[in-house]
Parts: sequence; C-alpha cells; structure tokens
Amino acid sequence: MKRLYVISGVTGMTGNELVRQILTDGAEDKIIGFDNFYASSIDTVKDRIDDERFAFFEYDLNNEEQMRAVEELAASEKDKYEELVYINCAAVVHTEHFYHVYETFETNVKGMNSFLEQAVRVGAQKYINCSTSEVYSMNSWNETGGVKEDDYITMADAEHSQRTSYAVGKLLTEFFLKDAVDAGKIKGCSIRFANVYSRNERFPKHIIPFIINSFKNEGKVVLLENSRKNRRTFLNNYDSCSAVLALVNTDTALDGTIYNVATDEEISIIDLAELCARMMGIENPVIEFSGYRQSDPERRLLSTEKIRTRTNWSPRVDLEKGLKECIRNYLAGSES
Ligand SMILES: NC(=O)c1ccc[n+]([C@@H]2O[C@H](COP(=O)([O-])OP(=O)(O)OC[C@H]3O[C@@H](n4cnc5c(N)ncnc54)[C@H](O)[C@@H]3O)[C@@H](O)[C@H]2O)c1
Repeated sequence: MKRLYVISGVTGMTGNELVRQILTDGAEDKIIGFDNFYASSIDTVKDRIDDERFAFFEYDLNNEEQMRAVEELAASEKDKYEELVYINCAAVVHTEHFYHVYETFETNVKGMNSFLEQAVRVGAQKYINCSTSEVYSMNSWNETGGVKEDDYITMADAEHSQRTSYAVGKLLTEFFLKDAVDAGKIKGCSIRFANVYSRNERFPKHIIPFIINSFKNEGKVVLLENSRKNRRTFLNNYDSCSAVLALVNTDTALDGTIYNVATDEEISIIDLAELCARMMGIENPVIEFSGYRQSDPERRLLSTEKIRTRTNWSPRVDLEKGLKECIRNYLAGSES
C-alpha cells in the first residue's frame, strides 16, 4: 500500500524513528513532516533529510498559516497515494513541562484537535493519536498485573499536582478521536505509550539519559526519593514506532479505541541505575536521593494484550539491548 503520511513533531523521539521505519529502501511512501524544535532538532533526521520522499518544515502546530500550508500540500499530493495517514506526535511531553498547564493545553489538546480537523477536511483515511499511560495516574498497576485500556482510572488533581494536567489533556484527546471515528469521519485510535526512550534523545531529562549522564559527568546519580520504591517499564522508540505502524496496517484495529503500548520488563529505578553503572564499568556506584515528586505512582505496568491480539505487534528491543545502545551513544558524546 502506497501511503502519504503527515506527521507532526517529526523530529521528536517517536517522529524521527517513524521516518526511518517508513522510508525503508524501495518504499514508495512519502512523509510530510514538521516540528517547531520545541524539544528536538533537525539532527535526529539528518540521515533522511535529503530523501526526496521526506518533505520537512520547521512549523508550529499552533500556527494557523503554517498548518494551512501543510493542509494544502497534503491535499495536492494525496491523489498520488492509496492512503493518507495523519500521525500526531507533536506534544509538550517532557516531565519538566508537564506542570505548564497552558502550554500543554495549547499544543496537546487544541493542537491535536486542529490537526484532527485538518485530517478530516483533507480526506485522510486514518489518524493516529499519541496519548500516554500517564492517564492511568494513580491506578497505573493492579494486583493481577497490568492495567487495561478499559480499566477505570483515579486521577490525581489540582489538590495534589499540576502535573496531572498533561494526563488530563491527553485523556481529552482520546475522546476527540473516538468522537470523530464514531461519526464516521475517519479511522483511527489512541495509543497510550509508557516511558519511551531512545538512543538519540537530545534533551537528557528522561531517567535513562539522566542516569547515564550523571554517572558520566559527576561520577554519581542523585535520584528522587520516589525512586526508593518506584518501578517502571521502558519502551524503546523502535518498538513504539513499530506499534504505530502495526496499527496503521490493521484497519480493523482503528475503531477509535485505545491501545496500551509498553513492555512488561519491569525494573526498579534503583536497579536501573545499578544496571547502567554495571554496563558503564562502574563498580560500587554512588546513588543518592533528594527531592520528592507528588502524584507519582509506585508502579506503571500496562497490559498489552489488546494490541498483541489485534495486530502482529510485540516489542523487539529488550532493556539490556536498548541500554547498551544508549550508553554507547552517550559515552561517545554522539546523538545519532
Ligand atoms: N516519551 C514518552 O515516554 C512518551 C510516553 C507516553 C506518550 N508519549 C507521547 O508520544 C508522542 C511523541 O512523544 P515523543 O516521545 O516523541 O516526545 P518528543 O518530545 O521527543 O517529541 C515531540 C515533538 O513535538 C515537537 N513539538 C512540541 N510542540 C510542538 C508544536 N507546537 N509544533 C510542532 N512541533 C511541536 C517537539 O519539538 C518534539 O520534537 C507525544 O504525543 C507524547 O505525549 C511519549
């Protein structure tokens, strides 16, 4: 199937790997991609920027004129392809930004919806909405294992932390998408990713690059007090993107509902720090604790039964392999 993709946030962790997985040798697909470099740079796609199948623009999802230009380009190109697919990766994502209520609302909620309206107007067949496992908030695991997409959730709220505004915004986008699909305007789904990491993450704020950089530059790591108890799973961006494409390729799965995408390889943050140290050749690593984050669940464990049943997706990059790549890149001072 020859497809035209329109991808927002294309130089981010998910977007840049999508470019690589879509534009394989010989593929006849094309990507119109844009990013405002809020949390990334052109470096992440430098290996594909000269590919004539990739049209990149430094555009902002919230800029009406720029979005009109994207729409016009998509409209003028779409008849050359069998399918037009919109993938919304642009978002205010990083933990330090979660607390910025208005910024997350503007991009993650209003921006997502405008992009969806554009997709419908231009006649796209499919829209993939990147949501987040943060929506599970304080119910991010249960006694029997992973949380499921149809489990009820208990949100932390403004009594606890502004952080939840990110999750609340993303939850709302799942309703927008469901509404559009139920109204027969488009096919699509929302994806709840859990803790995605990548070997070429530019801003080392997430926990894996943070740990590696701390050991590399300071010889020790200072973790939040929460880390004494917290456990997480980590999803390599190769696997987050292969999940997006598995869903794009499965029409029956695009019923407006939600898919968890994660691994079930759970590890405590202390064990993660010790594992990184061991892989970096550091004996007896110094791990200290300082600071506390409100509304941070002790575990985040997702059931991925739904996507595994409905598509052929399963994660391929285990934590050890993924960490090896991250450590190799960070120690080399490389970002690609
Ligand atoms: N990284 C994770 O752990 C994680 C977890 C759950 C969900 N998600 C979701 O997956 C999607 C992709 O996230 P990611 O991990 O690739 O994050 P990312 O920050 O690496 O990528 C997001 C991209 O969006 C761009 N962007 C932000 N605001 C923009 C705007 N107004 N206009 C244009 N571009 C803009 C950023 O510059 C960045 O390149 C997001 O919707 C995110 O909420 C990510």
